Amino acid sequence: MRVLVTGGAGYIGSHACVELAGRGHELVLVDNFSNSSPLVAGRLATLTGREPELHRADLRDRAAVDGLFKGRGIDAVIHFAALKAVGDSCRRPLDYFDNNIGGTIHLLQAMRAHGVGRLVFSSSATVYGDPDGVPVREDAPLRVTNPYGRTKLVMEQLIGDLCTSDPGFRAVNLRYFNPVGAHPSGLIGEAPGGVPDNLMPYVCQVAVGLRERLAVFGGDWPTVDGTGVRDYIHVMDLARAHADALDFLVRGHRSASINLGTGQGTSVLQLVRAFERASGRAVPYEIVDRRPGDVAEVYADPSLAHRLLGWRAEHDIDAMCRDAWHWQSRNPGGYADGPAAPGGAAAS
Ligand code: NAD
Ligand code: UD1
Repeated sequence: MRVLVTGGAGYIGSHACVELAGRGHELVLVDNFSNSSPLVAGRLATLTGREPELHRADLRDRAAVDGLFKGRGIDAVIHFAALKAVGDSCRRPLDYFDNNIGGTIHLLQAMRAHGVGRLVFSSSATVYGDPDGVPVREDAPLRVTNPYGRTKLVMEQLIGDLCTSDPGFRAVNLRYFNPVGAHPSGLIGEAPGGVPDNLMPYVCQVAVGLRERLAVFGGDWPTVDGTGVRDYIHVMDLARAHADALDFLVRGHRSASINLGTGQGTSVLQLVRAFERASGRAVPYEIVDRRPGDVAEVYADPSLAHRLLGWRAEHDIDAMCRDAWHWQSRNPGGYADGPAAPGGAAAS
């Protein structure tokens, strides 16, 4: 198929592109590089054996989005493009509504106008807010706790309304738990700008010497060791699920919302220890106050993904830490720093 990948230069999108290309799909990538680097194109060329068709455009530009579909014979869309930082969304909610919801509306309009009826959408476990219990199933109540989460929930609802109104339009909402890790080549990975909000990139930056120590947000949660428990999922497993979701739509199945997690909870301190083992580096930390808005324990029931997509996570926390460290140690400052090809040395 010819697949339009929005946000294809980003962390998860770039990994999905490698998987999709490996399964023989032809890709058209679009990104405004608001949170990514055009340098990813060269890395994707190395990994897939061909230069990706990568367009710089903003989904808020309706005419540009429409232009991406014209004459390209797009069969399906995978929609990653979004702003994704929870704290940032609390400071500037309108930008999140405009970018995430506004951009999605343009995309859906262009899909309709060009008769494209298959969509895989990047949703998030954030739509469950603070769940009543774990593991979290897809039929758990949806309740959001921040503007970013609200955009994901609204986008799921918009997509759902479109599916209801048009039997020719079908979509899979993939609700990711906590994506981490990197392609095992170390050529692509997560490159957050500024101070990382999320645990794994922060741990990576401590291990590589960019930051002094990790602040562990709370040591008094009702969990195995008092620190927060999450369901970390290797980005390569996540990438595979997108190709599986496309196959699911091609087989003519109904629309669905599907959790993507391992079903295993890992505490902050368990992750730190796994990372120290994988990297051979110490990760100094101190326990500080809880982060506002955090919850004790969230992990998925991933059984629907297996039933509907035949998908299961294959990588454990050790592999996630190993690959995250491989990427970080080869690209200490992100894409600008890294080697041009596998085997090259990272710039200092
Ligand atoms: P990312 O920021 O690395 O990738 C998103 C990409 O979209 C970036 O390259 C950015 O430049 C681009 N983009 C943003 N707005 C755009 C616009 N208006 N027009 C064109 N391009 C635009 O983030 P990611 O971690 O790869 O996340 C991908 C998707 O998965 C997002 O929708 C995110 O909300 C969702 N998600 C991510 C996580 C996570 O922890 N990484 C968890 C759950 C869900
Ligand atoms: C966060 C987002 C969520 C998003 C997810 C994946 C919030 C409230 N939620 O979830 O919407 O879908 O990222 O991108 O931000 N931790 C530390 N020190 C740190 C960073 C994190 O101790 O410096 C702890 C947290 O308290 C938590 C765990 O590590 O227990 C994971 O945190 P994080 O990576 O930010 O993900 P979530 O909070 O699960």
